[in-house]
Amino acid sequence: MALWPRDWRMLPSGETLGDVAPQFLGHSANVLVRVESVRTMSHTANTFGGYAGRIFLQMRKEIRRRRLEVGEAGWGIPQPQPARLRGISATKHYRVAVIGAGSQGMSQCQGLLAVKGIQVVGLSDINVERLNQVGDSMNLASNTRFSDANEMLRKAAPLDMVSIATTAPHHVALGRLALTSGVKRILLEKPIDVSLREARAFREECIRANTLLAVNYSRRWTLDYRAINRCISRGFIGEPRSIFVTVGKGELGMHASHYFDLCHYLFNSNPAWVVSNLEPVRERNPRGATFEDPSGFCLFTFENGARAYIDFSSDLGPKDPFVAIKGTHGRITVDEQRMFWTLQSRSQRLWSIPFAEPLKSSTLFSRVAADLLSRPPVTATEESGLVALEMVIGSHLAQRRSGHQVTFPITNEDSEIGVTFP
Ligand SMILES: NC(=O)c1ccc[n+]([C@@H]2O[C@H](COP(=O)([O-])OP(=O)(O)OC[C@H]3O[C@@H](n4cnc5c(N)ncnc54)[C@H](O)[C@@H]3O)[C@@H](O)[C@H]2O)c1
Repeated sequence: MALWPRDWRMLPSGETLGDVAPQFLGHSANVLVRVESVRTMSHTANTFGGYAGRIFLQMRKEIRRRRLEVGEAGWGIPQPQPARLRGISATKHYRVAVIGAGSQGMSQCQGLLAVKGIQVVGLSDINVERLNQVGDSMNLASNTRFSDANEMLRKAAPLDMVSIATTAPHHVALGRLALTSGVKRILLEKPIDVSLREARAFREECIRANTLLAVNYSRRWTLDYRAINRCISRGFIGEPRSIFVTVGKGELGMHASHYFDLCHYLFNSNPAWVVSNLEPVRERNPRGATFEDPSGFCLFTFENGARAYIDFSSDLGPKDPFVAIKGTHGRITVDEQRMFWTLQSRSQRLWSIPFAEPLKSSTLFSRVAADLLSRPPVTATEESGLVALEMVIGSHLAQRRSGHQVTFPITNEDSEIGVTFP
């Protein structure tokens, strides 16, 4: 059949785009089915005329209607499996506690409660009003709410996982409390902390205690970026050499660090050096006046020679993240706001792939939690959490050294820049 896409045949033997991006298989197969059905119907209509012709026209109308509804996908949007515990873990129940009931703590609770087998048995925040607001909206019993994290770790024990969703300066300190209480899985929100020295020491402490430590750079857990990473690692665009990201107006630690981690993930290489241009902070940070988290732009090179430019300058206007990954034989672009990505491979054919699911904090957190609680977890990122923090601190240092490159790794002494971010 002449309908087989050219890119499909060009892939290394035995591999299809469907293997790396399940939603793509549905997508392409649907397009094929659609074209094939139209051909068959058209043939039937010509052969039998009248009645069959009317059926053909009706079906064609239906096909076009569905196509218009969901873009090129044809027969429906991809239907990803909801996050779930895997293997032997699927038969068990897990007790999880969250420290910090701000907007991210609330998303985490929503994400946790959406996974079958996960129970939220503790939520803690020093702000009691906020604690009760989130507790009420999540229907958490009053004996699961605590204004003191230490008390929660004692009373809600035994805990299978503790997630720390306060702002960054408390991440490692609260992580240490969880570690001391004997918890074996600890998730820290990003950035891992504000102190590289403390974060590095904490990682060693977790390794010694045989405790899993992960940092919530959530793009690593999204179905679409995982599919993109598989496309890259299987050579669909050749060697990835350059990534260009425009975030919109953003902040270094809060937003840009997600893309620092993304570049590290997609290049599968550590950063080599950075130059940056950060804007003076003029507005009060929404999470507190003590935080200093500038907008600006940064250029990184990586140990494999690849480059990444990440622009989160204030004149870019509202956030509208767009990522372009250029390889030696093709490129991938990701439009996060409009929820699709494209793949242009060697043949120059352009595939347009709708996101499997939205980049919503709570949805992503379901995947993170299900992964970390399943044995063995697929994505544990304490090391990459440290690298992303180094990239943030390196960007501050490069700004202070007025345009001079800062090379990685950064020593503990150099990392003490006295800047705090959320
Ligand atoms: N992974 C993501 O996609 C994502 C998205 C948004 C935010 N974040 C990260 O999540 C963290 C929290 O962000 P947010 O927007 O929820 O901030 P927030 O300011 O809304 O909430 C932080 C909460 O932590 C509480 N808190 C502070 N110290 C505490 C302590 N010692 N014990 C208990 N509670 C304490 C505060 O009272 C507040 O309610 C930040 O580090 C941010 O970078 C990650």
